[in-house]
Amino acid sequence: MTPCPMPTLPKHIAIIMDGNGRWAKAKGQPRLEGHRRGVEVAEEMITAVNDLKIPFLTLYAFSDENWNRPKEEVDTLMGLLEWFLKTRQEKMLKNGIRFRTIGDTQKLPESVQRVIAETMEVTAHGKALTLILALSYGARNEIMNAVNKILSNQVPGTRYQVLRENELSDLLDTKDFPDPDLLIRTSGEYRLSNFLLWQLAYTELYFTKTMWPEFSEADLAKALEEYSKRERRFGKISEQL
Ligand code: IPE
Ligand code: IPE
Ligand code: MG
Repeated sequence: MTPCPMPTLPKHIAIIMDGNGRWAKAKGQPRLEGHRRGVEVAEEMITAVNDLKIPFLTLYAFSDENWNRPKEEVDTLMGLLEWFLKTRQEKMLKNGIRFRTIGDTQKLPESVQRVIAETMEVTAHGKALTLILALSYGARNEIMNAVNKILSNQVPGTRYQVLRENELSDLLDTKDFPDPDLLIRTSGEYRLSNFLLWQLAYTELYFTKTMWPEFSEADLAKALEEYSKRERRFGKISEQL
């Protein structure tokens, strides 16, 4: 029997973890309950992706626009984030996870900023999965920051006349990471919500109606299976690949 070929796995998965609030509401529970369960699912997915030896995972945890939610909900999310990082630092270290963030983390409460810095430091030498949390992240903001750095000559050692694609990439929060190969969005919304607009240029998109608190390893496997069947042509024709 011919051995089953290893399906092509993405090197970088990005996930828009959406639907926490609606999931809770449908069960007659407060939105907080959805976020609480959402964090558990995030942890399960981090473990699953690490076990698959996929090197990069970016999770959209809090957008720039999410600051406009009721204060109570924002506070809840910040509290959960702080708690998660504090209590999972050791586990990340043990599992070889390197923790990083993208987004305007200066806007986060100071206690959260501190635990972020600590988690990054503790896990800096992780050799397995790089886990990237998008926090207070907005893609337009990220691109505008890069452009403004150039306009105000804040990029050391440069005086740009013409900018190359890789030079702009190097000014983005994601400069140390490859572009995502696969984007997953849960909850049946078909939009990007200002997530990684530059980096997703050639990413395979996968949408599912499943709400994030119900997303399981089986759902991840389904997304990966679908991904393995896609033909990524990057503008070429099949015969050239
Ligand atoms: C995603 O779930 C989590 C965050 C945006 C922080 P939502 O909170 O957006 O849940 P829905 O979309 O309202 O159901
Ligand atoms: C996107 O979800 C942001 C995160 C998942 C963190 P939202 O629920 O905020 O997106 P919109 O506002 O419905 O587009
Ligand atoms: Mg939502």
